Amino acid sequence: MKHVLITGCSSGLGEAAALRLAKAGYRVTGTVRRQPDADRLAAAAGPDASWILMDVTDDRSVRDGLGGLVERRGAPDVLVNNVGVPCLGSMEELRIPDFRAAIETNVIGALRVYQAIAPAMRRRGAGQIINLSSSIGAAALPIYGGYCATKFALEAMSEAMRYELAPFGVTVNVLQPGIIATPFRAKKQVQRDERIPANSPYGNRLDNPSPPDLLRRISTPDEVAAALQQLIETPGGEFRRVCGRDAKAFLEARQTLDDGAFERLLTTKGYAAIP
Ligand SMILES: NC(=O)c1ccc[n+]([C@@H]2O[C@H](COP(=O)([O-])OP(=O)(O)OC[C@H]3O[C@@H](n4cnc5c(N)ncnc54)[C@H](OP(=O)(O)O)[C@@H]3O)[C@@H](O)[C@H]2O)c1
Repeated sequence: MKHVLITGCSSGLGEAAALRLAKAGYRVTGTVRRQPDADRLAAAAGPDASWILMDVTDDRSVRDGLGGLVERRGAPDVLVNNVGVPCLGSMEELRIPDFRAAIETNVIGALRVYQAIAPAMRRRGAGQIINLSSSIGAAALPIYGGYCATKFALEAMSEAMRYELAPFGVTVNVLQPGIIATPFRAKKQVQRDERIPANSPYGNRLDNPSPPDLLRRISTPDEVAAALQQLIETPGGEFRRVCGRDAKAFLEARQTLDDGAFERLLTTKGYAAIP
């Protein structure tokens, strides 16, 4: 069975994917930042899975964690670049250090992991890299501008990676889920509570950042993990894989409508307007 490396397995999609793939017989290596998370996952996933402590914002941590893995076991067959943090706020009020931290994790962190793994896949002439984008990695929404900017950047890097690695037999894919029921959403709430000025003119939208239409169609982490497993099992398909009914409708509209028609649609649905 394939060896799959997944970053950010302490919760949410990373945890669901690691446990699902381990149960399906894959050899899983997951990364977490804290030992208690590694211990809990080890107990749940069984002896064939292994856990690395790693912070994607730290050069040495990634070099030690993944360099050691490649030395011991060679390149994984699949890398899932799953780590991601929210970055919530109007563009007017977004704090520069918060935005920088999100870029450091979602963009540079993903690149750091890629650079630690891609050379060994390229030398072997086989492999698959899946970068976790989002439905709003292709069309931005108000209040999500900072987060969207990180996912747009990840998508741009993924396109370049795909062209660069294709001649060496390595595939790059992007997974674009809609909203998933994970702790990620609570982290957004913490950002709203702690960092947004109480008298913000964008307050109503900050209180309800996700348009109601999207909230009706939330995926479970395991549904997205199932889409991820399918992507691993059909690597020759399209570059981007959309996951979740909300994401499909949103991205289909973005692809088929011109800018004006798309903006009118979002405004009508309450996506774009600040109530
Ligand atoms: N939830 C959604 O609605 C949604 C929708 C579309 C796309 N996504 C994307 O899906 C991916 C997974 O998100 P999720 O919803 O499963 O969120 P999550 O439960 O918050 O998981 C994020 C993971 O990233 C880890 N992480 C954060 N910063 C890190 C760092 N500097 N170094 C190493 N690990 C770090 C977290 O570990 P700690 O516990 O140590 O913080 C956690 O394991 C993300 O890329 C996210 O952008 C999420």
